[in-house]
Amino acid sequence: MQLELFITVLLIQNQVLVATASSSSEEDENSEHDGTNDKNSSHEHHWGYDDQEGWSSAFQHCSGQSQSPIDIKTSKVIYDSSLPHIELDGYDLKADPTLKLQNNGHTLQLSLPNTMRIVKGFDQVYLAAQLHFHWGTIAVPGSEHTIDNIHFPAEIHVVHYNSKYTNSSEAESKPDGLAVLGAFIGIGLKDNENYEKILSALNDVSIEDSGTDIPGFNVRHLLPNNLEKFYRYKGSLTTPPCFQTVNWTLFSETVMVSRRQLAALEDTLKAGHKQLLSKNFRAAQLLHGRPVLASFTSSQSVNKDPSEIKPRVTPSEGMSRGDKFAIAFGALFIVTLLSSLIYISKLRKTNSISNKDTRQDVIYKPAIKDDV
Ligand SMILES: *[C@@H]1O[C@H](CO)[C@@H](O)[C@H](O)[C@H]1NC(C)=O
Ligand SMILES: *[C@@H]1O[C@H](CO)[C@@H](O)[C@H](O)[C@H]1NC(C)=O
Ligand SMILES: *[C@@H]1O[C@H](CO)[C@@H](O)[C@H](O)[C@H]1NC(C)=O
Ligand SMILES: [Zn+2]
Repeated sequence: MQLELFITVLLIQNQVLVATASSSSEEDENSEHDGTNDKNSSHEHHWGYDDQEGWSSAFQHCSGQSQSPIDIKTSKVIYDSSLPHIELDGYDLKADPTLKLQNNGHTLQLSLPNTMRIVKGFDQVYLAAQLHFHWGTIAVPGSEHTIDNIHFPAEIHVVHYNSKYTNSSEAESKPDGLAVLGAFIGIGLKDNENYEKILSALNDVSIEDSGTDIPGFNVRHLLPNNLEKFYRYKGSLTTPPCFQTVNWTLFSETVMVSRRQLAALEDTLKAGHKQLLSKNFRAAQLLHGRPVLASFTSSQSVNKDPSEIKPRVTPSEGMSRGDKFAIAFGALFIVTLLSSLIYISKLRKTNSISNKDTRQDVIYKPAIKDDV
């Protein structure tokens, strides 16, 4: 009983904190727009995450009706028992040949050999091309997709192309060209040794457009253990040129890395000379009636709220369980109350209908700012 109450308060607190964080990040974005607002014709070749609403002026697909990422509303997803399970092949790579790891100024990207394949789950075999990440900052969780409007700390995308095409650049503009496997990255207590195979090389690619070679490893281990529970929808590249050619799979189970590992991803890479490469996630796009399918029913969901996993309270030794809960409950109640007040006052200040609406609005504003 006490425990249930404790958990409820913890959940409410975390929701409020996340909402507060995302509303303040919106304010940051908006205040930047008040500055320079001349449009530059070099848009064609440069784009940045501070200028998402400007993408469609140079890349027409970015304002299409099947864009990614999206918010997955768990109450609206359609259970489809006929969704075929995904079967991977060739993911267990030998140390040699090595893999190219690059900081391309937009993300951290690992090139993959096309011997890695999705052999079951789609109408055709899809071959791997690359994987990359999206992340935020310590204060702003940076997954691209959201679950019930909640961001996870980060997200991994493993990009595959239809084997009927020669390569991924040819496939990416074809309607059945791409299949991306996505997974949410959350914070756990232990270092994730599989992610360390990539993250330990971060310092070698801190400069934009730099690259290094890392030994091959079992890439399967970067994805969740459970590949049977996933969401499926028709969407797009989440970066320009935003081609609407991706058959999306988002796994329900979260992959865990340590706080230290996530911080390394958030704090090491640079875009340009001084700027940190972070918050490289696109805002959620409108569904425009697209169905989102689930391979599982919500009662058997393995999805977890990202912040639920973080241990926020570590009660000290030498007290009874009851004492610990009483103290924790009291502290959390105060924090929750304060957070709520801050949140409510922010809501009043921005004078907006809802958080979600302001975020979606941003996408369709005309370009009023230079890209990065
Ligand atoms: C756009 O940016 C480029 C490179 O930064 C610059 O050379 C050019 O003069 C700019 N064009 C306009 C119209 O501001
Ligand atoms: C995505 O893959 C599923 C499973 O093979 C298939 O039924 C569906 O038509 C595909 N969707 C698109 C848009 O390619
Ligand atoms: C991809 O395939 C197309 C068509 O065969 C070819 O023209 C192009 O050079 C290839 N691109 C790469 C990067 O290999
Ligand atoms: Zn991506």
